[in-house]
Amino acid sequence: MITQNTIQQITNRIDIVEIIGEFVKLKKRGVNYLGNCPFHNEKSPSFTVSPSKEIYKCFGCGKSGNAIGFIMEHEKYSYVEALKWIAARYNIEIEETQTTPEVKQQQEVAESLFILNAFAQKHFSTNLTETEEGRAIALTYLKHRGFRDEIIKKFQIGYSPEAKDDLTRALITNQFNIEYAQKAGLVVVRNDQVMDNYRGRIIFPIHNQSGKIIGFGARVIKSNDRAPKYINTPENEIYVKSKILYGTYFARQAINKYDECLLVEGYTDVVSLHQAGIENVVASGGTSLTTDQLRLIRKHTSNLTIIYDGDAAGVKAALRGLDMAIEEGLNVKLVLIPDNEDPDSYVKKIGATSFREFVDVNRKDFIIFQLEVMLKDAGNDTSKRSTVVNHVAETLSKFNKAEDFTKQQDYVRQCASILKIDEGGLTNLVNKLKRERITKEESRQIETIPSPAVTENDSVAPSDTSSLLVDDEYQERDLVRALLEYGLLQWDEEKTMAEYIFEELEHYHIENPDLENLFNVYKDYYYKGLQPSAKTLLYHEDPTIRKLVIDLSVQKYELSPNWDAKMEGMNINNRDISRQDVLMSLNYFKLRKIKKMFDENQRDLEKARTYEEQIDMIKIHNVLKVEEQKITQLLGTVIFK
Ligand code: CTP
Ligand code: MN
Repeated sequence: MITQNTIQQITNRIDIVEIIGEFVKLKKRGVNYLGNCPFHNEKSPSFTVSPSKEIYKCFGCGKSGNAIGFIMEHEKYSYVEALKWIAARYNIEIEETQTTPEVKQQQEVAESLFILNAFAQKHFSTNLTETEEGRAIALTYLKHRGFRDEIIKKFQIGYSPEAKDDLTRALITNQFNIEYAQKAGLVVVRNDQVMDNYRGRIIFPIHNQSGKIIGFGARVIKSNDRAPKYINTPENEIYVKSKILYGTYFARQAINKYDECLLVEGYTDVVSLHQAGIENVVASGGTSLTTDQLRLIRKHTSNLTIIYDGDAAGVKAALRGLDMAIEEGLNVKLVLIPDNEDPDSYVKKIGATSFREFVDVNRKDFIIFQLEVMLKDAGNDTSKRSTVVNHVAETLSKFNKAEDFTKQQDYVRQCASILKIDEGGLTNLVNKLKRERITKEESRQIETIPSPAVTENDSVAPSDTSSLLVDDEYQERDLVRALLEYGLLQWDEEKTMAEYIFEELEHYHIENPDLENLFNVYKDYYYKGLQPSAKTLLYHEDPTIRKLVIDLSVQKYELSPNWDAKMEGMNINNRDISRQDVLMSLNYFKLRKIKKMFDENQRDLEKARTYEEQIDMIKIHNVLKVEEQKITQLLGTVIFK
């Protein structure tokens, strides 16, 4: 874990304009900066960065966040990865905290698994080349398939004999922990008996990015076996299938060099292509790609070429990953290998040079390919064709990086022409889908209407206010916003605004749990002398707090570029409205709560059975009335001051 101290250093050092400026061209506009949103396609800029609040917000698509959030979103990084990126940017040295016992335990297990796998690999390799059985059965088989010694050695391919305890005995002799061996998938326990998991199988070790073995794929040799063709390592501390692509360790340099990653299905395909000198190749293991796997590829290149055999199943599996690949900013091409061949057999048949040529000539654009396949299925059926249009638009709406928007436009043009539909119509559909998705994503943090305390229309008469008081969450939000914004300023000589608000709120309750939580966190920080503010809480460890603080900080009235332009010269942003703002937020909040109490009291009054009860409720009613009058009067003086 990164230490709190380092995080502090990073957040202190962050210049959001500088950081976002690395990806977006920003122009100063009033107190803010403005540019074209990198998360959606736009012609006139609505992406706003506020250096004083350390946040960004796009008024076009609604995305918002702090600098760390921007890097996470834009670069598809985790929180820690984003912190590390920023630290590197500012030459801040990262201090890691001492690991927790659980993490330490996990690291120890991982370490044991690596050691076990390394041992097992050597054992399997020795079996293949140094034992009679290995040479007679396995090596002969591999040679027969055309795998040569160097490639077998390079990929550390091995053999596990037919005996049911060959590896088990070796592990016991060397005093390995059997429980861990089970976790590693090397042994299984049946009827209290420990035995080998892989028997009579060719073993393909699977390496991580630094070449350590994280697991194995074990292929049967005798094809008449009823046993599964492959047995794979079970998920454990070091083997997480969704993050693994077979061959990345051996392919990395070639992928960088050719700026392209070839993707095949099987272990044998990777090994064969390597042997033929085509080294920028990895395998998915026949399942559809996960986001983690796509990111692994994108670390090296944005060009992904999928080489599958022409059968429908493989292509369908690959197609399922297409939208995700586009979201990750990858250019996806497809090459189909002809009838009954796979890359392994095909490269052996036609040779490396012809294979390369074949790939070059037959590389199809995946989006266009998908469209053509679907159109062929649809035939002349109008309703099916319209489904195709929607499907294509859905795919095209997944482009979400600014640098990809030209590409998106090109596709819209091409697809419209293939579909024989109007290009503008398709563009509109794509944009609509994109907007809908973003709205859905962000619907949990709906933008509230601007606070009544600071609307452009400053002269809302108190008598009109009841119509504004439709939902008390909105007043709660506004009050917490005012607290974040002005809490540390002085209210009077004796107390700060925060203290004033705490005092005034003693008999009131914030009902929305997230807002209440943020309010309590603020209070806690405050009394610990931690000087809480929107800016410090913006980096709070709890993501819901961070998100809420950002939400509360981006009030449209303040960040909107239009507003800035309109009000230029009026120095609107420097006018001290803090007292007014706090007072009004607080009192609208109270009014709303009182209104709620009125309603409750009214309901009780209707239900009251005795005269005494009624009198009590009328008394309450009168007290509330007095409170309400005090507040409306106060609001009146503030407003008309
Ligand atoms: N696979 C698997 N389990 C199976 C079958 C396949 O995990 N029962 C995965 C393996 O990663 C395999 C890939 O899917 O490499 C592709 O399967 P396939 O083409 O059948 O295997 P190949 O590795 O090509 O083996 P071979 O060429 O020897 O048939
Ligand atoms: Mn194969």
